[in-house]
Amino acid sequence: MARTLEQAIELRAKQGGGGFTPSQLRTIVDATLKEVDATDESQLKFLGQGFFGDVFWLGDKRKVLKLTNDYTDAYASEIVRRKPDKNLVKVYQVFALADSYPAVIGIVNEKLSPLASHERAKLDYLRKLWNKAIGQRTFLTRQNLDKFVDSPQIEEVDDADYGLLSTLVRVFTDRHIKWRDLSGDNIMARGREKVVSDLGFSESLKQPIPVLVRL
Ligand SMILES: Nc1ncnc2c1ncn2[C@@H]1O[C@H](COP(=O)(O)OP(=O)(O)O)[C@@H](O)[C@H]1O
Ligand SMILES: [Mg+2]
Repeated sequence: MARTLEQAIELRAKQGGGGFTPSQLRTIVDATLKEVDATDESQLKFLGQGFFGDVFWLGDKRKVLKLTNDYTDAYASEIVRRKPDKNLVKVYQVFALADSYPAVIGIVNEKLSPLASHERAKLDYLRKLWNKAIGQRTFLTRQNLDKFVDSPQIEEVDDADYGLLSTLVRVFTDRHIKWRDLSGDNIMARGREKVVSDLGFSESLKQPIPVLVRL
């Protein structure tokens, strides 16, 4: 369901088990708009939601703002901000909206395009094969990829998909990020390139995240 920035912040706070007073919420919304160089809320157009996050398009700029409860997304995104790769979403900013519990995280990413529906379906099927061979919620590591190669499911994987998996293993291993959310939703397109758009539900080293508002 489409929502405004204010509604999204409130929802994410509630999902995290808390909430803000109306005046705290106003302060946080204003600080967030300032942080992303938006003059008012109408510049933020709701694009989509996932399990943890709401994503807004930042008007004419080729950027989106993701709001999430998922701190693992903040840590992995902060690592990628400092060490980008062509197969990962370009991350511009990572911040916590306030220093309160529950945390609401803001991540400014490049705007990507959805994959064609057959490509999404193909990646969702690849996830199924992976889950069957390696198990649900398993990380995309070198060791697991080797196990996948030794499983009967590998017969159904074409060169392009195998190439993508092995590229992502290298890219995530280089950054000490353990990622496990392969799906047609979490891989998007930059031109002809397939790009990981969702770095959440991962494990990586804790990073310092700047806080916008001290309540
Ligand atoms: N960089 C992006 N550019 C354009 N749309 C995006 C971008 N990132 C996410 N989206 C849209 O928002 C939805 C939810 O984002 P996602 O990062 O997958 O959230 P979650 O962590 O909750 O799964 C995606 O399925 C997609 O439709
Ligand atoms: Mg997602």
